[in-house]
Amino acid sequence: MSGSIHLFNYFYGLIEQTTNTLIYRRPTMYNNPELIFEQSVPQGKISWRSPSNIALVKYWGKRDVQIPLNPSISFTLSKSYTETTVEYSAAEEDEPGVQFFLEGEINTSFGEKISAYFQSIGDIYPFLKQLKFTIRSSNTFPHSAGIASSASGMSALALCLCSIEQKHFGGLDSEADFFQKASYLARLGSGSACRSLYGGLVSWGKVNGREETSDLWGTQQIKDVHPDFLTFNDSILIVDAAQKKVSSRIGHGLMSSNPFSSARFEQAQKNIGRLMDVLKAGDMDAFINITESEALTLHAMMMTSNPYYLLMKPNTLNIIERIFDFRKNTGTPLCFTLDAGPNIHLLYPEKLNTEVNAFIDGELKPFLHQGRVIADRVGEGPEKRKQ
Ligand code: PMV
Repeated sequence: MSGSIHLFNYFYGLIEQTTNTLIYRRPTMYNNPELIFEQSVPQGKISWRSPSNIALVKYWGKRDVQIPLNPSISFTLSKSYTETTVEYSAAEEDEPGVQFFLEGEINTSFGEKISAYFQSIGDIYPFLKQLKFTIRSSNTFPHSAGIASSASGMSALALCLCSIEQKHFGGLDSEADFFQKASYLARLGSGSACRSLYGGLVSWGKVNGREETSDLWGTQQIKDVHPDFLTFNDSILIVDAAQKKVSSRIGHGLMSSNPFSSARFEQAQKNIGRLMDVLKAGDMDAFINITESEALTLHAMMMTSNPYYLLMKPNTLNIIERIFDFRKNTGTPLCFTLDAGPNIHLLYPEKLNTEVNAFIDGELKPFLHQGRVIADRVGEGPEKRKQ
């Protein structure tokens, strides 16, 4: 390995370590010392199914305890979800013991992350240290498929915690209170997870002139939205299924020294304001313009960070070129967005399903990893599961 690559990896390692310790600084809102079992410690079991989401205006850069440096808005997905079952009973020691199973297999590294997360929210839920947990999670989509499993996973877990609170301490009676607290808790685990708590379109982060928005939790944004956008399809085109080399956590951190960051944060404010109007007006051309520009800007931020890096692959660009050509030649209003990875989310109105799928099969499949496509669409949000 050359010296410069050594230095590069060393640098990332440092940020990873630094941000790993920073991410779990304690929040202060919702702190409640009364949420503690005074008599006997109960046992129980609760399950939630919660979806992933795909951002149209991207969150990229954060401060303090998961506060975004710009507002974002996403489509909640339908078929890409996590189902999590939490079983709890009296802790045997003072520490919150967590045993975590992913797809039926014990996963100690995730288990440790969840333990750290539970400790970080110990002032919100003091009862957590009185319990031990067996948590079973499964995803409908493969790991590293370009779908945010942290969004679906953290939102499902946050919902389970709110259900435990509701069952044993009362409160959280209104649906609005319940989901707002779940969104707040999900955000503390993984920023964009706070948008998975509601169906349709969800914003997160203070949007100028929009009183209902907040840096602390997601807000559903479906009022007066053109119906086409609430039934949009998202065909997720898997270009590369390998684990990405630079995590989002590192990417967010690098925005603090990116020379374009303040212009980017301003641009995101403008884009989200414009997009909210566009969603109401049903203006497809403007939707395409904002969505694609946001995707490319996200990746431009990665390329202009220092150290710089690239998450797109040659086939990401091959597909983007084909999408531009297809749209120009046929007038079909489809567009792409990208997460922090090489895979493409192809977005289009449901009524174009047949022609877009013919395009995918005929022109895009050769660029995909094992020809893989996940056919998803805008969904309705989380669902409590019966025991
Ligand atoms: O929530 P995080 O820390 O995994 O960051 C997500 C960042 C993007 O997916 C790239 C953008 C977004 O808004 O979801």
